Amino acid sequence: MTRVLSCLQPTGDITLGNYIGAIKHWADDQSADSFHGVVDLHALTVQRSPEDLRARTLEAVQMLLAAGLDPEICTLFVQSHVPEHAQLGWMMTCTVSFGELSRMTQFKDKSDQLGEQGFISAGLFSYPALMAADILLYDADEVPVGDDQRQHLEITRDIAQRFNSRYGATFVVPKAAIPKVGARIMDLQNPTSKMSKSADSPQGTVLVLDDPKVLEKKVKRAVTDTDGDVSFDPAAKPGVANLLTLLAVATGGDPAVLANDYSQYGPLKADTAAALIEFLRPVREKYLELESNPDYVRQALAIGAEKARAVASVVLARAQANIGLIPA
Ligand code: AQP
Repeated sequence: MTRVLSCLQPTGDITLGNYIGAIKHWADDQSADSFHGVVDLHALTVQRSPEDLRARTLEAVQMLLAAGLDPEICTLFVQSHVPEHAQLGWMMTCTVSFGELSRMTQFKDKSDQLGEQGFISAGLFSYPALMAADILLYDADEVPVGDDQRQHLEITRDIAQRFNSRYGATFVVPKAAIPKVGARIMDLQNPTSKMSKSADSPQGTVLVLDDPKVLEKKVKRAVTDTDGDVSFDPAAKPGVANLLTLLAVATGGDPAVLANDYSQYGPLKADTAAALIEFLRPVREKYLELESNPDYVRQALAIGAEKARAVASVVLARAQANIGLIPA
């Protein structure tokens, strides 16, 4: 069976992009060989309050459960509950070069966002090394992610191959698994930028937990075009293509084919909003139900930490032995 690992950062309200590009696939395809984490250590790369981190971490876990991840089937864990991540993370930091990390576009984008006045942590720079550890610790064959994570997967593969060639066969070299439709959901107000948890674009970002009326308003105000033509052309008409992609994902259709059903933006927006509301309804309802059951959430995490450590500790011990660290 294919071993799968993919994680979510507790860095903000979970967006429709996170759900369509990643979380829904994790839930649909889960098996005993699926590992999914809420990577709280990654959220430390940008300063935030302890209360915010605690709340965001629990929200992210609740969202994964609400989306359908079943702790009895897959392994659902919080990264800091599995100390092997930080331990392997250091070895990965020593296996990646400064030049490779400097070329990561997400670092450039995020450090630009923090601006000249902002504090840019060393962790923000080196976090792809920790991400490589997250993946390699579970001998993952595939990493189901949105399109924005392509570069991170490439650097993980480079790190794994370098470690294997320096110290002997240690890690499985993983592949990215990127969905054909919905791999990069764009911001509704700025359709050339991806929809993102931490973007300052409340009207352009649809949240999984948005009230249906709020969601409808955001979709109806989405930026489209002035020529009124409905066609699926992501380069020339990114806003319209984004709406068609959302409609396609929510209804199980094909965006280019769906374009033939519309000659005006109004009906396209109305149908997209209605379809998204139904698409997200079960997740939203389940999330609200879980809010009143914190014991279930904590119990799920306790089971997950144990299952994750059982796998991660074996791979960490293999890496430690091969690199030359002696046992206690
Ligand atoms: N717009 C998107 N379209 C499709 N997939 C997306 N993902 C994120 N945005 C989109 C996928 O969601 C998964 C979890 O993301 P993450 O928590 O690791 O952080 P990210 O990729 O950096 O996503 P965000 O929402 O933009 O978070 P922040 O603002 O904290 O950086 C990943 O598989 C990702 O591909």
